[in-house]
Amino acid sequence: MGQVLSHGAHKTAYEIQQGHDLRGKLAIVTGGSSGIGLETARQLVHAGAKVIITSPHLQRARECATNLSTTARGIDASNIIPMELQLASFRSVRKFVEDVKAMNCNIDYLILNAAVMGCPLWRTREDFEYHLGVNYIAHVHLTQLMLEHMIHQTVPSRILVVTCRSGLEGSGVHLADMNFRNRVYDAGAAYHQSKLALSYFAMELAIRLDGTKIVVLLVHPGIVPTSLSRWYGPLSLIYAGLAASWTKTVQQAAATSLYACVQKSLENKSGSYLQDCSVTKMPGRNSGNPHLWSKVWEMTQDMIDGAQIDSNCNSLNPGIKIMDWFWSRYIDPVLHYCGYVRGGKDSKEADKSN
Ligand SMILES: NC(=O)c1ccc[n+]([C@@H]2O[C@H](COP(=O)([O-])OP(=O)(O)OC[C@H]3O[C@@H](n4cnc5c(N)ncnc54)[C@H](OP(=O)(O)O)[C@@H]3O)[C@@H](O)[C@H]2O)c1
Repeated sequence: MGQVLSHGAHKTAYEIQQGHDLRGKLAIVTGGSSGIGLETARQLVHAGAKVIITSPHLQRARECATNLSTTARGIDASNIIPMELQLASFRSVRKFVEDVKAMNCNIDYLILNAAVMGCPLWRTREDFEYHLGVNYIAHVHLTQLMLEHMIHQTVPSRILVVTCRSGLEGSGVHLADMNFRNRVYDAGAAYHQSKLALSYFAMELAIRLDGTKIVVLLVHPGIVPTSLSRWYGPLSLIYAGLAASWTKTVQQAAATSLYACVQKSLENKSGSYLQDCSVTKMPGRNSGNPHLWSKVWEMTQDMIDGAQIDSNCNSLNPGIKIMDWFWSRYIDPVLHYCGYVRGGKDSKEADKSN
């Protein structure tokens, strides 16, 4: 591993979960079918938790669940629950929340981890720019619906918002045109904006939930080559090969999410920003600007309230489906073979050691 990583950055999710007993706890990991989310789910299950792993493709979530239960030694297969969640559709988000509520369980950890990066100018079913809609607005909608249930729980719970440091340090949320209707589209800026808006949401949510048993934590996993770069096509292969020498492993990138779940001292640290398994100052020039957080919250609420719900969530932009098919058919198997995506290159060793 490169010298650039701090001490906490070398810790793995496996090391963090050691010694913690999460039996009886339920975690939801959005985007638990790949990369950091999959590793987070794997280690939560190893610690005894029941984990809902979501994917926009039910089949993919099921394959991950089967894989997890056959490769990870000594875990209870019934503790892994694969579910479909397409964040590009409010209809799918609402169905997911209804299905979870019907399970009538406490939700101990809600981990907002799923994301897309580098997409062309696509729009979700409710006509939001794709990064904004998937990474941010759908997660806000999901959290608000889930909170109707979580707020009545008598047990403490945590909401983890997985962010990206470069988003926090980026050019900001474009309040006049969040949806790229009248400005030149830039996929990098769209990704960073969505992660920054999600981070503001976390900070505002922590304020609004003050005095409740719900702790909100902002988590930056660090940099690791995963399927996140899938929309860059074959370029991601080159990136995965080059970056692996200086970035974290998936095991290390998932460590801070595990830390945010199990670390007792975070009970009274709602609204904290975490990276490399420790609380640190949130980067970015608006890291201390509650006025902006509440402004973005109000604007987002208006967008959610005014969204035209499309009842047919299977008819997303055909470009998305073609790219997704191309990725899973050609790119993913190669990266998977090299050990970079899905489980991560060091997951098998971790499974054996459990
Ligand atoms: N990797 C990094 O260097 C890095 C750095 C900073 C922050 N992060 C953050 O870490 C988190 C995890 O990223 P990762 O690197 O593990 O990426 P990843 O391997 O690509 O995982 C992304 C997950 O999101 C799911 N997803 C994609 N589109 C979706 C949609 N429309 N609806 C619902 N779920 C969808 C994917 O499901 P399928 O695979 O089943 O389609 C997958 O499970 C993200 O929030 C990312 O922003 C990553």
